[in-house]
Amino acid sequence: MSNKSVIAKLQRKIYSTKTPSKLGFSNNRKNIPTTNRRPHTSAVIGGALGDEGKGRTVVNLINRSLENPDLDQVIVVRFQGGNNAGHSLESGGIKWAQHQIPSGIHRDQVYGIMDSGMVVHPEDLMTEYQLVSQATRSDLTGKLKLSADAIFCSDLERAKEVLNRFLSHGAKGGTGRGIGPSYAGHLDRQGLHIRDLLSDDWQEKLSNKYQQLEKIFAAFDMNLSEIEVPDFLESKKQNLSVGRTLGKLPEFLDRLSQARRFLLSEELVTNTFPLHHQYFHDPKTAMLFEGSQAVGLNPWLGTYPDVTTSDTSLFGIQTGTRYWLAEQIRYRLGVIKATYTSSVGQRRMATQVDLPYPVEDPSQLDSYQAWADYVRTKAHEFGTTTKRPRDILHMDLGFIGYNARMGGIEALVATHLDIALEDEPIKVCWGYANSSGEIVTYQPGLVYQADITPQYIELPSWDGLRVQGAQTMEDLPDNCRRYLGFFQAVTGVPIAAVTTGPNEYDYIEVPGYFDG
Ligand code: IMP
Repeated sequence: MSNKSVIAKLQRKIYSTKTPSKLGFSNNRKNIPTTNRRPHTSAVIGGALGDEGKGRTVVNLINRSLENPDLDQVIVVRFQGGNNAGHSLESGGIKWAQHQIPSGIHRDQVYGIMDSGMVVHPEDLMTEYQLVSQATRSDLTGKLKLSADAIFCSDLERAKEVLNRFLSHGAKGGTGRGIGPSYAGHLDRQGLHIRDLLSDDWQEKLSNKYQQLEKIFAAFDMNLSEIEVPDFLESKKQNLSVGRTLGKLPEFLDRLSQARRFLLSEELVTNTFPLHHQYFHDPKTAMLFEGSQAVGLNPWLGTYPDVTTSDTSLFGIQTGTRYWLAEQIRYRLGVIKATYTSSVGQRRMATQVDLPYPVEDPSQLDSYQAWADYVRTKAHEFGTTTKRPRDILHMDLGFIGYNARMGGIEALVATHLDIALEDEPIKVCWGYANSSGEIVTYQPGLVYQADITPQYIELPSWDGLRVQGAQTMEDLPDNCRRYLGFFQAVTGVPIAAVTTGPNEYDYIEVPGYFDG
């Protein structure tokens, strides 16, 4: 464990050199055994609390595969989560968001799999499919496969989330997309799967579920048909979180029957297992596993109880595809925001900056609040799915290091290097003091975030505008490279690539990791 003098010594060492030392894997890549790794496989997962820039990192990795003349196609696989995810993408001046559909599949030679570990809401999928086709002006026919074994999420699971929130007096809840109740149903062997919606007796199965839940709601004097659930299409149109009532049974079945027709007409649903087997043995196919949420939101490794309900670690690929082992993946990347962390939800981390929303009077903010306000505005820190303002946290190196070690992350992609103010040092937490004054390290679970005091160090910043347009690591300001050097020295996780702006070309690979 680090202590203050070790950290100060490291800081002196890194910041006293005239030329910042090299980053990444150049010296130790050779130490990583690669024998059992399938070439041309990569995984991208969140290293913090979500919204780190995974979707755009996936696009960067797609580009790198498409540039390889030995490869014919790239398969992007989503293996967990569902419509709680929101990957903002930007290309050629067009911006759009993807929630359930894997990133990048509008591109030639890129195909997507929504695998069995996912929770899938078919009506929202139908809407998203149309919106992504329109935004990217592409025909997605034949580009996407959905596992028949994926966990089925309907508005009933969303209503259950409303009930859970009611029963816990608002204390516990997710994004309202029905993710928790869907996974809970699967684990409790009560849930339905996509194959059930396609079966001949789907109406009977869904009617039973509806009537069961109706009785539960009635026991609390509530009417299921009047419960408000998210209206995805209307929310997209209005760029706001908009709801509608769930409706009576015939209305509920009617909406599902439209979604069912869509799944059948597009021939989306299949058994994905043999596809994996085929791709595994095809050397011309690159596989890219796209995580959603993050290790910090993992139900076992994260900030419990404010976590999601799927395995967001690299090991989730095993259960979420039921074919690939995490250890077979060649490049195991975690994405983090370089200078800060953002958080959506009710969790309260010790490193969080107290920042009101909206800020009524900026002159009342202290320098850290002013910095957090700048970050929230400049980086547009508002939920892609929920539109809620995100909380801004100082960078916590213990948290990132833990997430990397336990989540199976081997190297980091540090995004948002342009979010930096030259005159405002970057405040970085390297450990915590407990109530007895002892230095302790990060431990998962929100309970351990109470009664601890983060130990900070302030590092010199750089001009965020100067990083934009950088082509190589050498083009970055010295303090930016030193900061990254400090970051990787304390977390013990090498940096494989950085991003310097929102566009897909604002991306630089650190020599070493992808070369080996
Ligand atoms: P759920 O996944 O909808 O059950 O939400 C559980 C918790 O995870 C909530 O605090 C959400 O805000 C958080 N969460 C879920 N998905 C994301 C995401 O993609 N980004 C950030 N936070 C998320």
